[in-house]
Order: sequence, then structure tokens, then C-alpha cells
Amino acid sequence: MESDERIIDISQPSKRLLTGKVAVITGGARRIGAATAKAFAENGANVVIADILDEAGAELAAAIGGQYVHCDVSLERNMERAIQVAVGWKGLLDIMFNNAGISGPEGSITGLKTEQLSALLEINLNGVVHGIKHAARAMFEGRIAGTIICSSSSAAMMGGLASHAYTLSKAAILGVARSSACELGVHGIRVNCVSPHGVPSEMLMSSFRRLLGDQNLQPQDVSKIVGETGESVEGQGRERGGCGRSSGVSSKRQCRIYNRTQPSYRWRFHI
Ligand SMILES: NC(=O)c1ccc[n+]([C@@H]2O[C@H](COP(=O)([O-])OP(=O)(O)OC[C@H]3O[C@@H](n4cnc5c(N)ncnc54)[C@H](O)[C@@H]3O)[C@@H](O)[C@H]2O)c1
Repeated sequence: MESDERIIDISQPSKRLLTGKVAVITGGARRIGAATAKAFAENGANVVIADILDEAGAELAAAIGGQYVHCDVSLERNMERAIQVAVGWKGLLDIMFNNAGISGPEGSITGLKTEQLSALLEINLNGVVHGIKHAARAMFEGRIAGTIICSSSSAAMMGGLASHAYTLSKAAILGVARSSACELGVHGIRVNCVSPHGVPSEMLMSSFRRLLGDQNLQPQDVSKIVGETGESVEGQGRERGGCGRSSGVSSKRQCRIYNRTQPSYRWRFHI
């Protein structure tokens, strides 16, 4: 990765970058969400884990001095309640991480079933919209210049990395994050996306196991495959621009994706 002086190493708890901040993390019970919950707590944040994995979520919340709330992100009332738990606990909400997501039905678009697409969008897309909506309301009420982060994916930028339904949902998240950033930015609320790539979580592992027909595949095997195919995503923070110039919230990112089987691409996009 090219150097970027704005990159901060959050693995150094001594810096305690989030002291006193209150965060809600959807899908926080495992993998990317759980790692984020731990990193936030190590940096001094009060974390509410919102998930449907009650046992794992409650266990992690207890371990990091946080709270757990059962929350199916596709149900707006569940999301509203998750935010209320945070506000009821510490009086405000500073950070919303809309991380919960599922992988989609694989196969040709010629066989894509509308009901499967709708079911996926209810979680991956509506869940994020519910999160932005209710986090923004809480931040307005508390007059908090908070931050809302949404999980998109490298699949939103490059075809062929995931199922059609999943790809569609992650591209739509980029869109709603941009439009929300333009509206909420004038109130000091930042909206951004993160776009992970090839993290061997349960989601990616089950897709690889299905695709390769090997139920014994381990995370290190998937990391190796992802590495060996030469796929990597490099992001480089850039100057503020576009709608961020007027709202002062959105940074322009330059993203390069390399793939051995395809030519190199270079995109510029706002997150
Ligand atoms: N793993 C990767 O390489 C990768 C790549 C790109 C994007 N992402 C995105 O990162 C996010 C986290 O994924 P992960 O890899 O840690 O996967 P994961 O499957 O390990 O974790 C997903 C979490 O979301 C929760 N969840 C699922 N449906 C939910 C619902 N309806 N309500 C509340 N919680 C729900 C799960 O219980 C789980 O805790 C997802 O949005 C995913 O699309 C992951």
C-alpha cells in the first residue's frame, strides 16, 4: 500500500482514540464486526453489539464491557431499539457501524429468483438504511457530530467477485452512503463506507467451501487462495472533494484493484 500519513494504527490501545465514545455495531458478534468491537473497546469506546447471534454477541459484550442487544437489522423496530439501548445506556450515540450482511444465492443471473433477491436486500440494504436513519435521528436529537460507517465490498466495484444479489446490495450501499453523506454532512455527521476484500470470515469460508466442494477448507487455505490469485485492493486517502467539498465530510478515495485474470482497473469514487 502506498504511504498515507492519515492512516492511524488502532491496534495501539495506548492512544485510546475513542475514549468515552458510544458505538453501535451491527453484526458485531463475530469476525469483522467482533474485531471492530474489540478494537473500539480497546480504544476506550462503549460498544453496543447488535446481532442475531445472541450467545456469541452477549459473551463478547460482557468481555469488552459493552452491551448486547438482539437486533435483526431487516426489522426497522429492532434497529430503533438497538439505538435506544445505546442512548439509554450512555445518553448519546457517536458511532454507527452498519456491518451486518449476508452472502447471496450463487449462480447465473438467468436463474436469479426475485424472492431470494428481495430477502437478501432486506438485510444487506434495508438493514443499512435502517441503521443510517435511526443513527442520524439519535445524532440530531443529541446534537452529535457523529460518524456512520457502512460495510460495502470490493464486489461493489468489480464484477465477478460475488453473487449478483450480493453485488447489487453492496453497490446500492455505496449510493445511499453518498446521498446520506451529502445530506447529513451539513449537520457535521460523516457517512462513509468500508469495502473489505477477501477476509476469511464465516461468510467467505462458506462460499469458498460451496464453490470448491471442500467442507474441510480452513481460513488459512482461503487466505492463500485469495493471495495467490493476485487479487488485492489498495485504497489511498485523497483530498476532500465533490459533495465533501460542500459538506466537509466525504473524502475522495482512489482505489486500484489488481487481478491476474483481468487488466488493471483504476477507479475514483467517493466514500
Ligand atoms: N469477509 C469478506 O471478505 C468481506 C468482503 C466484503 C464485504 N464484507 C462485508 O463485511 C460485513 C461483515 O462480514 P463478515 O465477513 O464478518 O461475515 P460474517 O458472516 O462472519 O459476519 C456477519 C455478521 O452479521 C450478522 N448478521 C447476519 N444477518 C443479520 C441480521 N439480519 N441482523 C443482524 N445481524 C446479522 C451475523 O450474525 C454475523 O455476526 C458484511 O456486511 C460483509 O458483506 C466482508
